[in-house]
Amino acid sequence: MGKIIAAKVSEIPPGKMIKVTIDGRDILVANIDGEFFATDDSCTHSGASLSEGKLDECKITCGWHAAEFDCKTGKMLKFPVKLRDLTSYKISIESENIFVEM
Ligand code: FES
Repeated sequence: MGKIIAAKVSEIPPGKMIKVTIDGRDILVANIDGEFFATDDSCTHSGASLSEGKLDECKITCGWHAAEFDCKTGKMLKFPVKLRDLTSYKISIESENIFVEM
């Protein structure tokens, strides 16, 4: 699919994450100390929107049943059973625009 504009840098302050929908797919974009990361937004447990959960450094905690994922890699960090990792996406920044490579 290529590089698609997801948001403006100014829309996501450090320590925050938002959900963007790109071509029907919900993607979470997080700002960790000025560096941006993107993963799927749907929790691999029961599909909650992870951007409505908590972000602590690089750790995303699902608001429904507290599964934890690494926003840099999409890897599951903690849950009582093994969950599928999130797909993570490459990000690039060009003139204040955040692009997600899909
Ligand atoms: S839906 Fe995310 S932990 Fe259950």
